[in-house]
Amino acid sequence: MTAQYQVHGDIAVITLSNPPVNGLGFATRLSIADGLSRANADPAVKALVLTGAGKAFSGGADIKEFGSPKALQEPNLLSVILALEHSAKPVVAAIHSVCMGGGLELALGCHYRIAAPGCSVALPEVKLGLIPGAGGTQRLPRVLGVEVALNMIVSGEAVKSEMLAMIPGQKLFDKMASSVETLAEEALALARSLADTRPLPLVRNLPCKHPQGDAYFQFARNMVKGMAKNFPAPPKCVDAVEAATKQKFDLGMAAERDIFVALMQTAESRALRHIFMAERAASKIPDVPSDTPQRLVKSVAVIGAGTMGGGIAMNFLHAGLPVVMLEMKQEALDRGVATIRKNYESQVKKGKLKADKYEQRMALLQTTLSYDDLGSADLVIEAVFEDIGVKETVFKQLDRVMKPGAILASNTSTLDVDKIASFTSRPQDVVGLHFFSPANVMKLLEVVRGAKTAKDVLATVMALAKTIRKTAVVSGVCDGFIGNRMVEQYGRQGGFLLDEGCTPEQVDRAIEKFGFAMGPFRMGDLAGNDIGWAIRKRRALEKPGMKYSKTADLLCEKGRFGQKTGAGWYDYVAGKRDAVPNAEVVQMIAAHRASLGITPRKISDDEIVQRLVYSLVNEAAHILEEGIASKAGDIDMVYLMGYGFPIYRGGPMNYADQVGLFNVVQSMGRFAQNPLDDAAFWQPAPLLARLAAEGRTFN
Ligand code: NAI
Repeated sequence: MTAQYQVHGDIAVITLSNPPVNGLGFATRLSIADGLSRANADPAVKALVLTGAGKAFSGGADIKEFGSPKALQEPNLLSVILALEHSAKPVVAAIHSVCMGGGLELALGCHYRIAAPGCSVALPEVKLGLIPGAGGTQRLPRVLGVEVALNMIVSGEAVKSEMLAMIPGQKLFDKMASSVETLAEEALALARSLADTRPLPLVRNLPCKHPQGDAYFQFARNMVKGMAKNFPAPPKCVDAVEAATKQKFDLGMAAERDIFVALMQTAESRALRHIFMAERAASKIPDVPSDTPQRLVKSVAVIGAGTMGGGIAMNFLHAGLPVVMLEMKQEALDRGVATIRKNYESQVKKGKLKADKYEQRMALLQTTLSYDDLGSADLVIEAVFEDIGVKETVFKQLDRVMKPGAILASNTSTLDVDKIASFTSRPQDVVGLHFFSPANVMKLLEVVRGAKTAKDVLATVMALAKTIRKTAVVSGVCDGFIGNRMVEQYGRQGGFLLDEGCTPEQVDRAIEKFGFAMGPFRMGDLAGNDIGWAIRKRRALEKPGMKYSKTADLLCEKGRFGQKTGAGWYDYVAGKRDAVPNAEVVQMIAAHRASLGITPRKISDDEIVQRLVYSLVNEAAHILEEGIASKAGDIDMVYLMGYGFPIYRGGPMNYADQVGLFNVVQSMGRFAQNPLDDAAFWQPAPLLARLAAEGRTFN
């Protein structure tokens, strides 16, 4: 049973017990309905209390059931709420800790509510591209007023119970308990005191009006549309709440249901639900059980105080862990520390960080020029030059000084982690921790699992990623790992598009319209075009057959490395990030095209988007098949968190699934016919070909 039934004197208590958050899956709903019938049939029971065990009243619907027949299986949530309303004996909801989504809707179906302070109350459905679907949009405005309720529904953000209790005239809580500890007792007392009250109050019978009516909703709609852009759910929240003010309760409920059902089918909601699941799944590694013991990480060392080292250190300072940073020269250390200070000072100036917090963090930072000062750290992260010889020197030193059991991590973005591990006598302790730039901001962390990386090391760094608020995704060892291996193909397509007739601006505009934060050329300018240049030079040695457009090399030969040199594919004014198209670059591309004897053709935005996105998808299919990524959702997380793939499209694999893999393969077949493209690359990866043929999906 996922809810317990107990009788305390003349009060029946139904306690949801479906850890971790008392999700309202089928079994739980059934238990509530059973408890309700039992209490109503028992003459000794005068009233009921509905509450949740453990860390929540209820976190809401069981997301695993979303879109499946189980979610509708009777008693569904609407039926349970109706049953609560119809109970002949009063039902008091005893709310604490977490009361969200379906959990709040359930509470709103009870006759009375008592809440403990500190409880997070929310209707977060909008974050999954939905609106509340079990009366939330109709009942919440009746107890909190239209404006407060609409704000909560549109934002999906949680508000603390004690804040809600202070709203004048609010009817959400009949009483505030003095503490979580006393909630159960106080709820029993409240139920007892109300046992004989008739008629029983129902939220549905409360009035729902806004004094400015139409004008208010027009204003709300304009505000929301401006902010929501590609997300259909927020404006629908306004429609649903407006229905609550204009229609009888049952008609409002019907309106809510229609909107909910329609949103459920949208690509955006599917994408957001996919991300929700994929993010949770990414933290689980198939062969590393969740009870794998972890190593204790109480202090961190960082080697290299450059671009990445400083940002990496900030993550741990923020989490309250002491960090010691090592460099070869004092000047490099001073520069690194100054950059960290500058970063924090700008946060203080913007009011994002309190001055005393800033000092506390800086106090956790120490610097050194000697490896002998690192020995006691539990984790060391190397972020020195991307050169295998330099890495070798560093890891040999680390092997010498670090205490047994310390985790030795490298932030390398391209080098072989197994090779790096082989420089030590303890390859089981070595792991890749690939942060993205700026490392104190970007959410993504690729955890690179070497052939010998120990399971407890993996379990430890995955947990640590949560502590420093990163989304960690595990990648096997290969050149570029998941993200950069894919982006190389994407960049290659960008180059071919230029050769065939596009300008950088046209390519960027098309993919940005599709929803990318930044097109490939603006991204190149931001990251530094010299990085790609170095990779292509290396590739020319390793894979001489690999076809590239030469335009990017020509650009680099002009010293146009991007924002850092004030000029790249675009021009940049100092201190600004705006990309200004440059006629000389366009001319350079045209001249190169002419030298190849290519007559430029007009390429549609559709073709640009498909070639760029499907190049990611095809490479990703190889990555998946090779076991570099263990699930398609992991690849989506990498692209969403690290490369600006549009959230509402759910990542490249989810997007391909939505388009249909058959259609993706058909398009690839067309691209393979293009003599200016790379026909070999467009052969669908075997996994992709197989799934497409079987009518299946990646996810
Ligand atoms: P950087 O050049 O800004 O910093 C490297 C620092 O390491 C310099 O301050 C240098 O003095 C120091 N250093 C070099 N050899 C050393 C040694 N033997 N002992 C101690 N310190 C030494 O380089 P960046 O960009 O921070 O890159 C560092 C690592 O992070 C590289 O492996 C790179 O591939 C990787 N990475 C870089 C990203 C980026 O966007 N810049 C993104 C992800 C990874």
